[in-house]
Amino acid sequence: MSGYRIAVLASGRGSNLQALLRAIADGRLPGQIAGVFSDKPKCGAMAIARDHGLHAVALKPRDYADRASHDEALFSAVAGVQPDLIVCAGYLRIITDTTVRRFEDRMINLHPSLLPRHPGLDTHARVLAAGETEHGASVHAVIPALDAGPVLAQVRLEVGADDTPDTLADRLSPREHALLVACTAAIAGGRARLDDGRWLFDGQALDRPLRLDARDELQRETAHA
Ligand code: GRF
Repeated sequence: MSGYRIAVLASGRGSNLQALLRAIADGRLPGQIAGVFSDKPKCGAMAIARDHGLHAVALKPRDYADRASHDEALFSAVAGVQPDLIVCAGYLRIITDTTVRRFEDRMINLHPSLLPRHPGLDTHARVLAAGETEHGASVHAVIPALDAGPVLAQVRLEVGADDTPDTLADRLSPREHALLVACTAAIAGGRARLDDGRWLFDGQALDRPLRLDARDELQRETAHA
């Protein structure tokens, strides 16, 4: 097992955590899950973490006086597992600037839209409301501004005439898993890294996000793609 230590933050069902665990087991992701952290003790991600015997910590926000003290407690636990990388996989709370700065260059987030389009919540419904023909997901570095950090890679999905927010979410979900695994593996394996606020991939700066292809590989986008 690789010594590269990944901390996962999640608030939801944990399908992305499951995808990371599967990729580690298959040898596609050179790393280990050093801990799983949540604001929701009863969420699916916590159950998956416990089933796998992982270090798992969930702290309820209402047990803390304010956002800053909850963040401080949860991220002290994160720091305790000495992560090389923190992966936010459906962690639904806004992280305070102080915490983001503490882990700068070591934290990525999976977001269900083609950023910079549709930061924030309800992305599937917003894509449909805007009449867009293309949707997707992004993996980006976490910076203090919400969903605004440099994007490492995206996966694209065509929007069908019959799509609803639910069908879009269902179709996007497996592509998100593949994107998150590919990005995490690229970082853990040393192919991708942040340098002074921009991504380097195979040693070269990215001027636009990588694209996940149909074989689940990260490709550079050409200007005309
Ligand atoms: C994903 O759709 C992700 O894009 C969003 O939250 C969801 C997490 O799903 N930010 P899961 O908990 O990993 O199943």
